[in-house]
Amino acid sequence: MKHLITTADLTKKEILKLFEDAELFDDLKSSNLLEGKLIVTLFFENSTRTRSSFEIAAKRLGAQVVNLEVNTSSTKKGETVEDTVANLDAMKPDAIIIRHSDCGLPESLKSYVSCPILNAGDGKNAHPTQALLDLYTIYKHYNGKVKGKNIAIVGDIANSRVASSNLELLPRFGLNPILVSPKKFKVKTKFKSTTNLKKVLNKVDIIMSLRVQHERHDRAILPEKLEVQKKEYSKKYCITKKLLKNQKDIILMHPGPVNRNIDVSDDMIEDKRSKILEQVTNGVAIRMACLKKLLVD
Ligand code: NCD
Repeated sequence: MKHLITTADLTKKEILKLFEDAELFDDLKSSNLLEGKLIVTLFFENSTRTRSSFEIAAKRLGAQVVNLEVNTSSTKKGETVEDTVANLDAMKPDAIIIRHSDCGLPESLKSYVSCPILNAGDGKNAHPTQALLDLYTIYKHYNGKVKGKNIAIVGDIANSRVASSNLELLPRFGLNPILVSPKKFKVKTKFKSTTNLKKVLNKVDIIMSLRVQHERHDRAILPEKLEVQKKEYSKKYCITKKLLKNQKDIILMHPGPVNRNIDVSDDMIEDKRSKILEQVTNGVAIRMACLKKLLVD
């Protein structure tokens, strides 16, 4: 049984094949590749892009999708997630897509199912399809010549599953990450890291901005204090047009949701160096390729 729990589940060769397939799906046209297949999505955490992207990918390929409404499901009556998943699996879906706040949960669910599990994000642990679509976006921009490119990953590195999956994936393709964050969001790492964004700007080809993951921070904080913190953060880490005035060829990425003028300024979101909406489009193509790999190939 094949699952997609982390990017480490895939070899480089498999990833390049996914990119080849994604390229064929690039126009996001409908086909009947997954006709007769049924996919269940189970999102225990908020999602706009990832959930709709998976659903659109599945439907574009002709599959049917059942979105379990977790707020009205039996987990609210005390059923464990494991039992919920085992029960859904007993209805013989062809795949289960899950997002949950517990790190490692999708991995532990493997033994409860007889269909592939696709991890749509588990806490701060992993978000494999996001990292794949990020690398795919970079790969397309540089026509496959990504080796040696430097990427600044800016933001809440410590709590971001997007950062952790990209840090597993990008170096395998020869990209060099530089982690940029306030001290409190730093992690122990083998990669270069700094608190000073300005200092690295002329050394990098790509900036990946990340949202501060307030929902994963332990201590609740007063709303007024939070506003002050956001202001302080944006002064040092918001990606603005002014900041990038000399970086004509740089590309800017962000997985969304963007906190405007905290992560990225309004004018930089609209700038042609921004790949933010292209990432969203590429996300559907990548997820179509992932579903093909796990359900058909
Ligand atoms: C991210 C996530 O949920 O991990 N968003 C996404 O999937 N596109 C990033 C975030 O929430 O900041």
